[in-house]
Amino acid sequence: MEVIIRPSADAASRLVASLIGDTLDRNPVAVLGLATGRTVVPVYNELARLHRDEGLDFSNCRTFNLDEYVGLSPDDPDSFRHTMDVRLFNRVNIKRENTHVPNGVAKDLDAECLAYEQRIRDFGGIDFQLLGIGDDGHIGFNEPLSALRSRTRVKAIAPDTLRQNSEAFSSPESMPRRGITMGVGTILDSRHCVLLATGEAKALILAKAVEGPITAMISATALQLHPKCQVIVDEAAASQLEGTDYYQWIFENEPEWEAYRNDE
Ligand code: F6R
Repeated sequence: MEVIIRPSADAASRLVASLIGDTLDRNPVAVLGLATGRTVVPVYNELARLHRDEGLDFSNCRTFNLDEYVGLSPDDPDSFRHTMDVRLFNRVNIKRENTHVPNGVAKDLDAECLAYEQRIRDFGGIDFQLLGIGDDGHIGFNEPLSALRSRTRVKAIAPDTLRQNSEAFSSPESMPRRGITMGVGTILDSRHCVLLATGEAKALILAKAVEGPITAMISATALQLHPKCQVIVDEAAASQLEGTDYYQWIFENEPEWEAYRNDE
């Protein structure tokens, strides 16, 4: 795991967007794993800008979103599918048939989960997985006690997450109580994963995720097992970490980061 601390949320988000852009430049048919939530909004804004101003090409890439609410149809304004259409897909030259979000209104939800896993395998697996972190340490909808080897399945949404996400609903009481989510094991199978956390509210859970013991109570701790996981944070989200000097030293000295160091 690497932790990269940037001076601001904007700089952290730009760095994440650059990593996605570089992935697509190197491999135009890359399979991207995508997240929703407030944290990643500036990443999608920057990707839309890179497409508009610098010709970043999405025409051959494929995407799989982490999760979807059970019971919300793709055109429901509160669904993650609709959110992705508005925040990213409609703003870049991606082909709709190459974008995948679990179907929250599938008649047979278990079959939908199995088919989603199979589709990821059919596309050769996820090259780059973007993640945020929930207030209870979830990634996707992998709520506390999610098995560290879990696959795509239906999960009950925990009370902390109901509180966190219901703010985004036009009528908070209508927020679904279950979601379809890639499993922790599905996420760990990605070749490269990047977790973005910004703002002071994430500082404590981020420190537990990065520096605490691995536990199913905090799904994000499983990322410590991932062979190539980068945690990109602003100074506020980094404020509870103990190893910041060491993390900064890596960023200043690893040749991999050279091209990214000057963007404040
Ligand atoms: C949503 C997802 C979630 C969010 C997390 C953080 O697709 O994967 O794990 O990343 O709940 O949400 P925000 O960014 O709104 O704090």
